[in-house]
Amino acid sequence: MINILMVCLGNICRSPLAEGILKSKLPKSKFNIHSAGTSAHHEGEPPDSRSIAIAKHKGIDISRQRAKQFRVSDFDTFHYIYVMDNSNYKAITKLARTDKDIKKIKLILSELDTTNTMEVPDPYYGDNSGFETTYQLLDVACDNIAKTLKQKHFKN
Ligand code: 4NP
Repeated sequence: MINILMVCLGNICRSPLAEGILKSKLPKSKFNIHSAGTSAHHEGEPPDSRSIAIAKHKGIDISRQRAKQFRVSDFDTFHYIYVMDNSNYKAITKLARTDKDIKKIKLILSELDTTNTMEVPDPYYGDNSGFETTYQLLDVACDNIAKTLKQKHFKN
């Protein structure tokens, strides 16, 4: 099993969407996908209703996810850790114990072929259009991640 973790600040807006989108692109039998927040502020809560709505609109159900905080042992569990922005990157890197831990962490938008920004903007304080932007960015990034991981892990 290949374990993948999506990380943002609250684990209620961006990373639940990233989890749902990537799950929709990879087979469950081989890929285990979760998400977490660098903060514990929303622990136990379902995703933000605006994330649930945009995912539903695209045919993805993320309503049963519950927020949890990233913990150091996640470095042992997960093979790939995708963070949404530089602040998440810094927070997780601080918790890393080894170079091997650090090598697992990637900005998710580094998976885009061309991009002006390497960060998924935090949509929490904005309006619905921010959630559409978040979805679009994550959808393309997850397409590329799924392609790369399928090639890498289905090679004989
Ligand atoms: P997320 O968005 O990191 O994409 O889940 C946020 C959710 C909550 C807060 C900030 C960002 N907050 O400040 O409570």
